[in-house]
Amino acid sequence: NQGVGRVVLPRKPLEDIASLLLSTPVPCVSGGLPKPTNITFFSINMRNILQWSPPEGLQEAELTYTVQYFIYGQKKWLNKSECRNINRTCCDLSVETSDYEHQYYAKVKAIWETNCSKWAETGRFYPFLETQIGPPEVALSTDEKSISIVLTAPEKWKRNPEESSISMQQIYSNLKYNVSVYNAKSNRTVSLEW
Ligand SMILES: *[C@@H]1O[C@H](CO)[C@@H](O)[C@H](O)[C@H]1NC(C)=O
Ligand SMILES: *[C@@H]1O[C@H](CO)[C@@H](O)[C@H](O)[C@H]1NC(C)=O
Ligand SMILES: *[C@@H]1O[C@H](CO)[C@@H](O)[C@H](O)[C@H]1NC(C)=O
Ligand SMILES: *[C@@H]1O[C@H](CO)[C@@H](O)[C@H](O)[C@H]1NC(C)=O
Ligand SMILES: *[C@@H]1O[C@H](CO)[C@@H](O)[C@H](O)[C@H]1NC(C)=O
Ligand SMILES: *[C@@H]1O[C@H](CO)[C@@H](O)[C@H](O)[C@H]1NC(C)=O
Repeated sequence: NQGVGRVVLPRKPLEDIASLLLSTPVPCVSGGLPKPTNITFFSINMRNILQWSPPEGLQEAELTYTVQYFIYGQKKWLNKSECRNINRTCCDLSVETSDYEHQYYAKVKAIWETNCSKWAETGRFYPFLETQIGPPEVALSTDEKSISIVLTAPEKWKRNPEESSISMQQIYSNLKYNVSVYNAKSNRTVSLEW
């Protein structure tokens, strides 16, 4: 311990890393380790990524993380096997949270050797209300006396390229566009809602 809220962990010798890899799952003792911070869903067009920051004072340490998620109304936390003992600070939960009319929670704990932190938990996540809508595609075609602006709503995230596309417009039927047209000659901008 060095001063306020700072914990310094020794670097892991190679043998320890090897034994960690060989003996998964590693049971860990909850307690000593502070928990991850800033846990939140980052969601755009229904692509839902859980993100967090390392525990306070442990930015440099060789920690790993394990993630679980919870579907509101069901009774248990579920494992996300791809996000078990990972060294990244994010986890793609798009598939697990793909029903955008459901609500979810997620949590993550930090693990260092046989020590693990308490869980850090998100607030309730409701993709339908919380996802950000990405920018539309904009195409212009010009005529002698007119300009046509063709806007295409962004697509909802999909599991794989073969899955049929769903426009965000189908999910939010009242989606509107704010179009600004800048006239270089008059140096003026006109905005309109569409
Ligand atoms: C790890 O756990 C041990 C035993 O539970 C404890 O003595 C030690 O302080 C913990 N270390 C950290 C960095 O939390
Ligand atoms: C948590 O997020 C805030 C704001 O983005 C940032 O200033 C802070 O450093 C983060 N905490 C950690 C432990 O990274
Ligand atoms: C999740 O993983 C933990 C640790 O391996 C296990 O104890 C628990 O039963 C698993 N939970 C579910 C719902 O599969
Ligand atoms: C993180 O884990 C991956 C795969 O487990 C490994 O290849 C990589 O070297 C690790 N990165 C760090 C910074 O430890
Ligand atoms: C549309 O965009 C313009 C320029 O960015 C901004 O001034 C205006 O307030 C926006 N209108 C709406 C309804 O958001
Ligand atoms: C365009 O108008 C803005 C403010 O309306 C002004 O600051 C800028 O200098 C103008 N640019 C030109 C090229 O006239």
